[in-house]
Amino acid sequence: MNKLEGKKVLVVGGSSGIGEAAARELAGFGAEVTIASRDPLKLQAAAARSGGAVRTAVLDTANDAGLEAFFAAQGEFDHVVVSAAQTASGPVRQLPLVDAYAAMNSKFWGAYRVARAARIAEGGSLTLVSGFLGVRPSKTSVLQGAINAALESLARGLALELSPVRVNTVSPGMIATPMWSGISDEARAAKFETVAARLPARRMGQPEDVANAIVYLVTTPYATGSTVLVDGGGAIA
Ligand SMILES: NC(=O)c1ccc[n+]([C@@H]2O[C@H](COP(=O)([O-])OP(=O)(O)OC[C@H]3O[C@@H](n4cnc5c(N)ncnc54)[C@H](OP(=O)(O)O)[C@@H]3O)[C@@H](O)[C@H]2O)c1
Repeated sequence: MNKLEGKKVLVVGGSSGIGEAAARELAGFGAEVTIASRDPLKLQAAAARSGGAVRTAVLDTANDAGLEAFFAAQGEFDHVVVSAAQTASGPVRQLPLVDAYAAMNSKFWGAYRVARAARIAEGGSLTLVSGFLGVRPSKTSVLQGAINAALESLARGLALELSPVRVNTVSPGMIATPMWSGISDEARAAKFETVAARLPARRMGQPEDVANAIVYLVTTPYATGSTVLVDGGGAIA
């Protein structure tokens, strides 16, 4: 079913994980998808994995002038998804302030800068990615929860300011993506197993679970100002 036939879609953070899965799903529904991120090699690899179904653009959400120039050159998109972030995490009293500021700059201000610069067609949408820690704080990731809550509030406000462009947030629980590649294979497998056992859904989240919700938000004309949790029940566990 090509419900996005001919629609121009940008996925910022589309070279990996949730963004990559979303780009693949959106392209599968007929959209002309561009994936954007900082690393050209990661972009090329993701494009190859998609079988050539997506285009690529090098873009850094930290660079506001670069974002302005990109959107001026590209013109309007029908739909923009922002999944880009790189955030250090840790207890407030242990995480160095410089890392805390960098995390907020990457995930919150990165999305803010994209929202500010993007040109989105009437009837289009902007979808941000937050995370379930925004509603279920963890004592070892307090900042991450605060960033996610700020993003969700940003999206609700933008749904008013940018109307009739729709603005929504998808809030994932723990998802098996390259975000977790910083720990050993063994430690990661053990962590995923523990998480799956604790969750009501009794499984670890996959990028496709979140991509599915992103497609719902992009393609549902009545959805705006919404936050969709896709967390295996993590927020209630
Ligand atoms: N995985 C989880 O368990 C989980 C849970 C809750 C929430 N989330 C959230 O979901 C989002 C996506 O996470 P993920 O798991 O898919 O992570 P991921 O696999 O590490 O992907 C992150 C993507 O963001 C891009 N990126 C990072 N910084 C960027 C920047 N400054 N400008 C442009 N692109 C940038 C990366 O590409 P480059 O390196 O090429 O720039 C990559 O494509 C994040 O906001 C994350 O916090 C994830």
